[in-house]
Amino acid sequence: MSYLDIDYPHDKQAFYQLLREQVAVYTDPAPTAVSALANAAAVLGAAFCDINWAGFYIVSRGKLVLGPFQGKPAVQTIDLGQGVCGAAWQNRKAVIVQDVHSFPGHIACDLDSRSEIAVPVFDQDWQVLGIIDIDSPTPARFNDQDAQGLEAVVSLIARHMAIELS
Ligand code: SME
Repeated sequence: MSYLDIDYPHDKQAFYQLLREQVAVYTDPAPTAVSALANAAAVLGAAFCDINWAGFYIVSRGKLVLGPFQGKPAVQTIDLGQGVCGAAWQNRKAVIVQDVHSFPGHIACDLDSRSEIAVPVFDQDWQVLGIIDIDSPTPARFNDQDAQGLEAVVSLIARHMAIELS
């Protein structure tokens, strides 16, 4: 069965448990960090309903730098505190935006986006390695359960974000 054929449950707890299993299957073992994050982005893009962008920004040389993703081309660098992703990085916690139009400084990569979640990825010393970012065309698509679920998902691939990009 292809990863595209999987019927993900609507219940968020069950959804994130299956998502963790699928991310693990396609990222462990991984020959490189990019291959792991690319596969993780593909799994995320197939798993979530009602989203239009899912992917990673990686902390490198003092900025968030665009990593593997599924969706439209996006801004390639984000400063600390800038936009939703920069806020999650600066505050070191998940940012859930119910309506991107009312979030000051929101960076619009896809004009269809209406709500968004950005969750920081930490290393063992609680340094932020990067951000997982997901956009939806539906307002208020994400809640605290998504933040907790994504935190568990990214703990599986955090080691692949500890890279300096060239
Ligand atoms: N909207 C994000 C930028 C990244 S895109 O959504 C892919 C932000 O405000 O940080």
